[in-house]
Amino acid sequence: MLYLLLSDLHANLEAFEAVVRDAEARYPHLDAAACLGDVVGYGADPEAVVGRIQEIAQTVIRGNHDKAVALGENLEWFNSAARDATYWTLNQLSPTSVDYLRELPRGPRMLNGFQICHGSPLDEDEYLITPGDVEILAGRLDSGVIFFGHTHVQGGFRMLRGVVSVLPRPDESDSETVEVEEQAYYILNPGSVGQPRDQDPRAAYAVYDSANRLFHMHRVAYEVEVTQRKILDAGLPERLAFRLAHGR
Ligand SMILES: [Fe+2]
Repeated sequence: MLYLLLSDLHANLEAFEAVVRDAEARYPHLDAAACLGDVVGYGADPEAVVGRIQEIAQTVIRGNHDKAVALGENLEWFNSAARDATYWTLNQLSPTSVDYLRELPRGPRMLNGFQICHGSPLDEDEYLITPGDVEILAGRLDSGVIFFGHTHVQGGFRMLRGVVSVLPRPDESDSETVEVEEQAYYILNPGSVGQPRDQDPRAAYAVYDSANRLFHMHRVAYEVEVTQRKILDAGLPERLAFRLAHGR
């Protein structure tokens, strides 16, 4: 089966639509889509993105920003821009959309032979950034293939007998494929659709081919200037617009 994997959309409608168009063109026979959380927060189109993710994805788990908006949780960990955007987002959303975000399940969730989570399989709010962050998961994982988000960095890690290596991601090209070997653990990040932080401003997503154990990562250019203008016009913190041009 072919799974479209989306994470960290952050209310960026232009990036989201560009990803859907690109994915449907590359993979006319996608079987299902899963979202690893952070549907909203930072961006200027929370209501539209909440509506669209329900059309696209059969499985959605919550991210820390979804939780902050709908439940008021974790705000003490947010910087001022993230906190301002959280309150702004709550004011933009319909009661139905707030209810939808509030009822999103916590990860991890097991799907067809793989697990999805927002931060780490052990803690939805934890960041997996370095090989050391992954080493401490050795012996504590319930699945050999895990997809995560939260860091907004596409790529991920391979772990064999406790030794962790960092996997390649698309650089100049727009795609990279990782073969998921059966004997190792793979902790994989499809990247952020709406606010990449890996020095590449293009929207990120991935497709997992479960039959052939292939993880395909892709990058898509979108109308960043349109998204930036919306953020500035909404009165959201300027930094949230500017960072989109640099992917950090
Ligand atoms: Fe996020």
